[in-house]
Amino acid sequence: MDSFKKFLPYYRYLKPVWWRFALGVLFGVLFSVSSGLGLPVMAETVFPVLFGNPEEAPAWLKVLVETWFGDDVQGGFLILCCLFLPFIMLLRAVGAVGNGYFITYTGIYVVQAIQIDVFKKVQGMPLAFFQRHKTGELIAAIMGYPRQIKQVLVNNSNDLVKQPLTLLSAVGFLIYKSFTSESFFTAVIGVLSIPIIIFPIRQIGRYLARRSRQLVVMGEALNSSTIETVQSPVEIRTYNLERQQNQRFIDQLSKIFRISMKSVRSSLIMSPLIEVVAATGLAFALFLGVRSGMEQGEFLALAVALYMAYTPIKKLGRVHGSLKMVEAPLERLEDILQAEESVPETLNPRVLDCPLRGVINFENVHFSYATGTPALQSINVEIASGESVGLVGKSGAGKSTFVNLIPRLFDPTQGRILIDGIDTRELSLSDLRNQIGYVPQMPILFNVSVIDNIRVGKEGASDAEIIEAARLANALEFIESLPDGFNTVLSERGNSLSGGQRQRIAIARAFLKDAPILILDEATSALDNTSDQLIQEALRRLSENRTTLIIAHQMGTLKDVSRRLFFKQGILVGDGSHEELMESNSDYIGLVNVENAVGQSD
Ligand SMILES: Nc1ncnc2c1ncn2[C@@H]1O[C@H](COP(=O)(O)OP(=O)(O)O)[C@@H](O)[C@H]1O
Ligand SMILES: [Mg+2]
Repeated sequence: MDSFKKFLPYYRYLKPVWWRFALGVLFGVLFSVSSGLGLPVMAETVFPVLFGNPEEAPAWLKVLVETWFGDDVQGGFLILCCLFLPFIMLLRAVGAVGNGYFITYTGIYVVQAIQIDVFKKVQGMPLAFFQRHKTGELIAAIMGYPRQIKQVLVNNSNDLVKQPLTLLSAVGFLIYKSFTSESFFTAVIGVLSIPIIIFPIRQIGRYLARRSRQLVVMGEALNSSTIETVQSPVEIRTYNLERQQNQRFIDQLSKIFRISMKSVRSSLIMSPLIEVVAATGLAFALFLGVRSGMEQGEFLALAVALYMAYTPIKKLGRVHGSLKMVEAPLERLEDILQAEESVPETLNPRVLDCPLRGVINFENVHFSYATGTPALQSINVEIASGESVGLVGKSGAGKSTFVNLIPRLFDPTQGRILIDGIDTRELSLSDLRNQIGYVPQMPILFNVSVIDNIRVGKEGASDAEIIEAARLANALEFIESLPDGFNTVLSERGNSLSGGQRQRIAIARAFLKDAPILILDEATSALDNTSDQLIQEALRRLSENRTTLIIAHQMGTLKDVSRRLFFKQGILVGDGSHEELMESNSDYIGLVNVENAVGQSD
């Protein structure tokens, strides 16, 4: 029951399609009633009429025959009785089709409704969320788990509606008979063995839940290695990892195989086990009943009632098992759907009536990652509107963390960040991010045309604006030489373009966005020299009249930048021109010397 409670909230997904769902269940009941009707009714009602005495026919049949076949009663019976079988089959067919159609309809609807919720939630999560959840896990949460939940929600619903009703009526019958017949009452004592079944059902349920937890973890790991294989073809080939990858995949699958078989074994045991217990109960009832003088007719009625009571228990046991099996996926989904947004959207965002100038202030900013690593400490700095600032320091010093705090990819653990004197947390996330252009080291392109890839910079930009942005980004020439020019569809992640070409598309996006603040996080460090020139020029043009933060891999790229912020282990230890820092900061001199040494040996 506990596991069912966890499930209840998910029934709200059925609300928008509730009448289709109800129809589906009704058709399901029609199907099973007509399935159970065919042979027994033929044997009990129809055959005696056909081969024996028409006088035995039930009243309603007589009425029908008399109205339709007034003169030929015997022939009428024959026709009607022969029609009975196809009629029942027709009902059965209608039930099967209606049930299949409406249950599938609601099933697909529910899967997609959950998928949309999870997808939207993931979309809105801050960066830290993606570091906490593996890709394999998120793919499973969007693609796999909603399907499993629907399985229980929709496919078991027939049983969830029908079986308790059958059980109740059987139990009602038993109680009623017990009050009217003493020997029956004695026999029913044998029925008290029923509740014993609950224990193994619960035990097996717990076991299944445990196994399903293991399966979920393994499935996610399997997803992750599949994604890695598909995403890193270059690394896998150059490092000869094919065999290792194959072996890992096979190992993971065989583990999943083993655990799946274990849980299948337990769920298969459930029904026979219930039957054995039921038979024992029936035998006990037979024993008690006969000893207290029960008659054959009465015993048959008891046996039928017991059978009617056990079947639902068996089916509900199976439902219980499948509820247990989805407990783990359910927990995974809950985890995501309830995840707290660590970069919460502002409730009453300040309305921006004019474009910001791009003055940036860090006031006593501290930041630690969820892992506890303090990445920035006591940062106090002001950057003027239109100023270009270089960020330098060893790898891991906190430069990327510093710039990522500005568009609120993370929020500071302490202190605040202001733009034009406004706390960034007072702006809506979209307003804030509209103020910031961002060119990363490895820009990601989407699987759409070049023109739409650039349009990412500004929703609804005209083609002319986009072409102008491409020209400013020094990208026009190479784009026009592509097979379909601006309409060339890029492969996923832009693999078909060189690093420098991808970078220029990212720069064109930034031109189009035309934001007062610009962040360049090692924008040129992955590039060769020739494309470097074009890109350097485009970046210089882009940073004109914008507040620009440049993280450079090599200090050489900061020639034209007069002010530098020097980070060391998360602390801002230097702020000034190259010359000033060379005079006053021994760590800075050390860094420059190391770089020169590397530069000369190149
Ligand atoms: N997502 C993360 N989770 C935990 N620690 C991180 C994360 N990103 C960076 N760090 C740590 O924070 C520190 C600063 O990193 P970063 O800002 O990326 O440095 P830089 O850009 O200067 O090379 C490093 O010690 C790094 O290991
Ligand atoms: Mg970095």
